[in-house]
Amino acid sequence: MGLVLVMVGLPARGKTYTARKMVRYLSWKGMKTKVFNVGNFRRSMSGAQVPHEFFDPHNESGMNARKQAAKAALEELCSWMDTGGDVAIYDATNSTQKRRTWVVERLQEKGFECAFLENLCFDKSIVEANIAQTKLGSPDYAGIRTQQAIDDFRKRIAHYESVYEPIEDTKLRWIKIIDAGRQIIVNRCDSYLLSKIATFVMNLNIRPKTLWFSRHGQSQFNTEERVGGDSPLSVNGEVYIESLARFFEDKPIEQVWTSTLKRTIQTASMLPLKKRHWKKLDEINAGVCDGFTYDEIQEKYPDIAASRRADKLGYRYPQGESYEDVIERLEPVIFEIERNEGDLLVVAHQAILRALYAYFANRPREDCPYLSIPLHTVIQLQSQTYGCVEMRFALPPQID
Ligand code: SIN
Repeated sequence: MGLVLVMVGLPARGKTYTARKMVRYLSWKGMKTKVFNVGNFRRSMSGAQVPHEFFDPHNESGMNARKQAAKAALEELCSWMDTGGDVAIYDATNSTQKRRTWVVERLQEKGFECAFLENLCFDKSIVEANIAQTKLGSPDYAGIRTQQAIDDFRKRIAHYESVYEPIEDTKLRWIKIIDAGRQIIVNRCDSYLLSKIATFVMNLNIRPKTLWFSRHGQSQFNTEERVGGDSPLSVNGEVYIESLARFFEDKPIEQVWTSTLKRTIQTASMLPLKKRHWKKLDEINAGVCDGFTYDEIQEKYPDIAASRRADKLGYRYPQGESYEDVIERLEPVIFEIERNEGDLLVVAHQAILRALYAYFANRPREDCPYLSIPLHTVIQLQSQTYGCVEMRFALPPQID
């Protein structure tokens, strides 16, 4: 049975951020997940730049127009779920008991499970930061002077506050995220999926940060085009670790994570940073093919080579792993990175960084085995409220 997550919260409380992160996480885990944002429906039905009076609960025509937008979004969500969606997220303020009852009744009619995710903020500084960071970049205020936009948005929030009713019904399933995750309250999250969702939101940290990825320097196995193993760096790889140390001299990162394999530990060895070596970051286990070149695999195990070509995401090496296994194994790493304060460098392996990169750069899970993560290249991902900005730096020595 499909699950619908219904967002609840005043504007500028982090609902859209939470919804998008949730889609990212669940899609990366292989679930068909989509957000339905009522604001987008309202913008296409009533225009982007409506004044705050539109949101006044005493303004009948505004209320009708908003209800129409809410209805259109909910119906589109239901149709999408009917096509085989696993999790839909209904992103709207849903600020009154009456509105939530209307949503629940419609979802019950359709036979979908439903749970609420409420974002509450008592810390005014979080709300202020959200107003500055998110709404002012929204199409609602495009081309409008900053102060005028802030004044209008505060009035819009006040309209919602005048009728806001937090969720209190303990018969419903809900998760309350208070002050951007400082406190989480969970009520009746009685399925495996909901408990995963609750754990995920416990690890979310909205503070912007920079994440750096690098593969290990070229290894002796790389020079022979062999997969797996635990070989040390080649001469080129040893030069790369000096380039890497120079590159990070003026970057404010606090720690570096590596796998437990020689080539990543050696690559991070010249960085004067706190180190953590994770087995979970070890390269995909190539099982019976470990230590072979691709030509040797083709020759000795043509069936393995053909099956892997046909389904590189799902194919599991005999006695080894598939990309899907790697994604599963990396979940605790994703949680730790999400939770981590401050900038972080991860030095790992091609398959591992493909999977991590797919999550943070918002790439489809199916593309994961084909993403380009070249040797001797540092990838920078700067997280922002609605996505991330990427830069790549090729460091010497560049190799073919
Ligand atoms: C909006 O129109 O921007 C939001 C609608 C709502 O959720 O109240």
